[in-house]
Amino acid sequence: MKVFILVLCLVPAMLCDYVKIPIQDCGENFEDIPCTISEVSVDECELDNDKCELIRGEDYHMDVKFTPNFEGSNITLLAYALIGSDALPFEGMNPNACDFMKCPVESGKPQSYIFNVNIGVLKPKGIFTTRWLMKQNGENRCCFVNKFKIL
Ligand SMILES: *[C@@H]1O[C@H](CO)[C@@H](O)[C@H](O)[C@H]1NC(C)=O
Repeated sequence: MKVFILVLCLVPAMLCDYVKIPIQDCGENFEDIPCTISEVSVDECELDNDKCELIRGEDYHMDVKFTPNFEGSNITLLAYALIGSDALPFEGMNPNACDFMKCPVESGKPQSYIFNVNIGVLKPKGIFTTRWLMKQNGENRCCFVNKFKIL
């Protein structure tokens, strides 16, 4: 039965149990960026208030729906753990956004990307604020912040 469920989840993302998670904007250093994020959801995530609970050692998928107000292909995705005033980059993440979505991005057209979140990278248990940033030609384009609770 477990194998069956895993196989189902690998094929159409729609069949999985994606849960919409609360997100925030990235604050004053990221104002006026040309992107609207309409929804972010994570499969098999349980919500504890504003926190998405994840179990260490498991793989998850994050589905980000956004409308760019820019276009192009030279797009990177960066993720950071925000700890105090530091932003620590996640290691081992594939930064090439075009591996996760259709490129080139077209301005004004809603689209989405789905990528793996492997909880191996967030080693300690606890609550983490994470920042997800999309850049194009090195310029900040899309950004959101969310909270994970790692069990
Ligand atoms: C792609 O973006 C990088 C900055 O992230 C820049 O250095 C490079 O010149 C860009 N490449 C093209 C083909 O525009």
